[in-house]
Amino acid sequence: MIQEQEKSIYVQKMFSNIASKYDLLNNLMTLSCHYKWKEETIKLALKENEYPNDVLDICTGTGDLAFILNKYCLNPDVKIHCVDNCNEMLNIAKEKVQDLKISNITFESMDTENLTFKPNSFDMVTVGFGIRNLVNREKCIKNIFSLLRDKGVFACIDLGHPMNPIWKSIFNFYFYHLVPKLGELFARDKEAYTYLPNSLRSWYGQEEFKNLILSSGFSKCYFKNIFGGVIAIHIAVK
Ligand SMILES: C[S@@+](CC[C@H](N)C(=O)[O-])C[C@H]1O[C@@H](n2cnc3c(N)ncnc32)[C@H](O)[C@@H]1O
Repeated sequence: MIQEQEKSIYVQKMFSNIASKYDLLNNLMTLSCHYKWKEETIKLALKENEYPNDVLDICTGTGDLAFILNKYCLNPDVKIHCVDNCNEMLNIAKEKVQDLKISNITFESMDTENLTFKPNSFDMVTVGFGIRNLVNREKCIKNIFSLLRDKGVFACIDLGHPMNPIWKSIFNFYFYHLVPKLGELFARDKEAYTYLPNSLRSWYGQEEFKNLILSSGFSKCYFKNIFGGVIAIHIAVK
C-alpha cells in the first residue's frame, strides 16, 4: 500500500516537473504524429457514438483528446469534463481553453484512482497515455465501466508492444536509449524520460488489455495497432 502511494506521488511529481515541456517533447519524440494518432482514437470512438452529450477525459494532461473531441463531435453542446491530479499539466490545458475561448471543456483536479462521479454519468470516457501510470489499473477500468451509461464508449490510446521482432528491436533502441537523451536535452529531465520506456515493461499486451476490458463487463472491445504496434487504440462499448 505504501509502495502504491509512493508510485502515485512519484508520477505526480514527475509530471509537474515536465509539464511546461510536455507538449514540445511529445512533438519531438513522435515528429508530431501523436496528434494524428489521437485524432484517430477520437474518430473511432465517435463511430460508436457520434452524438455524445457528456464525455469524461481522464489523465487529461494538457487536454489534447478533449480539444480533438470538441473539434470532431457532431453535438455542438457536448460537455467535456477533464480530470488530472497534476495541477501544472491542468494549468496548461486551462490556458489553451482560454486562448481558444471554448466554454464546454472543463477541468478538475482529481485522482483517476478515486474518481468521484456518480455511476451512469457519461456517454464516453477517453484516456490518452494515462492508465499505464496508474497503480490499480483493473479497478480503474471497472470504474470507467460503472461511470458509463448503457452503450457508453470507452476509448484508450497508449503505447503497445510491437509484434515484429526486427521492428521491436529498432523501437526498443529508440525508446530505451534515445528517448531518455531527448528528455535530458529538451526537458532537462532524463529520469522522467527513463520512467516512460520502463513503464512499458509492466504494461499489458494489446490482446491482454482487450481481455481485461471485456472481463470488466464491456460487451464489445477491439484494438487497432498503429505504427506496427508501437501505439495501440482500444475501443470498447458498454
Ligand atoms: C502521459 S500524460 C498523458 C496526457 C494526455 N492524456 C495526452 O494524451 O497527451 C499522463 C497524464 O496522466 C496524469 N496522471 C497520472 N496518474 C494520475 C492519477 N493517478 N490521477 C490523475 N491523473 C494522473 C498525469 O498527471 C499526466 O498528465
